[in-house]
Amino acid sequence: MNWTIVDLNPADAAQVPAAARLLVAAFAHLPDTWDTEAEALEEVHAALEPDKICRVALAADGALLGWIGGFHAYAQVWELHPLAVHPRQQGQGIGAALVRDLEAQVRARGGLVITLGTDDVIGQTSLAGVDLYPDVWPHIAALRNVGRHPYEFYQKLGYAITGVIPDANGFGRPDILMTRRLT
Ligand SMILES: CC(C)(COP(=O)(O)OP(=O)(O)OC[C@H]1O[C@@H](n2cnc3c(N)ncnc32)[C@H](O)[C@@H]1OP(=O)(O)O)[C@@H](O)C(=O)NCCC(=O)NCCS
Repeated sequence: MNWTIVDLNPADAAQVPAAARLLVAAFAHLPDTWDTEAEALEEVHAALEPDKICRVALAADGALLGWIGGFHAYAQVWELHPLAVHPRQQGQGIGAALVRDLEAQVRARGGLVITLGTDDVIGQTSLAGVDLYPDVWPHIAALRNVGRHPYEFYQKLGYAITGVIPDANGFGRPDILMTRRLT
């Protein structure tokens, strides 16, 4: 499939709600995400705030395939959030293309580092369901992907695991922190 990646136009009355619906669909397998289009719409509007980056992958017929957001966090660090590809369109390279596009956008703004957090709320990794304190690093070193958690997607794109927030989403439900230098 061919696609193009462009800025999401905040005034686009079709694409903005489509981005919200895509978020609901892409995260439907995870609890405590976006249950309704209205909730997801708040996230889309947040991603469209001034000085943030919000890019969409569009099919030739204009259908929304996926989208990515990013914002300046501090110093030379930008945070990737969120990223979603429609479930019917996953596995075709769209997610990777969106990440590479965001990296180009960040580079063009003078950023050097992209960081992100990728939660494990349903036991997709060996970090879930265990007490990671007090020695967190051995748990990270022994990390295994038991349920197709997306940290491996980011690793394939050059992102390294640079930490974990134990219990970020409740006991035993950590956030995995990943970072890449843009060179
Ligand atoms: C994670 C997500 C963005 C990946 O997008 P995608 O378009 O399906 O991924 P791509 O086709 O670009 O995959 C690129 C590579 O990563 C791999 N990959 C993709 N998802 C993966 C996963 N969950 N676990 C392990 N590897 C994965 C692909 O197999 C591919 O590998 P290859 O280059 O060796 O062929 C998409 O599955 C998604 O939207 N998931 C639901 C929402 C989500 O989890 N967002 C990220 C939250 S941090």
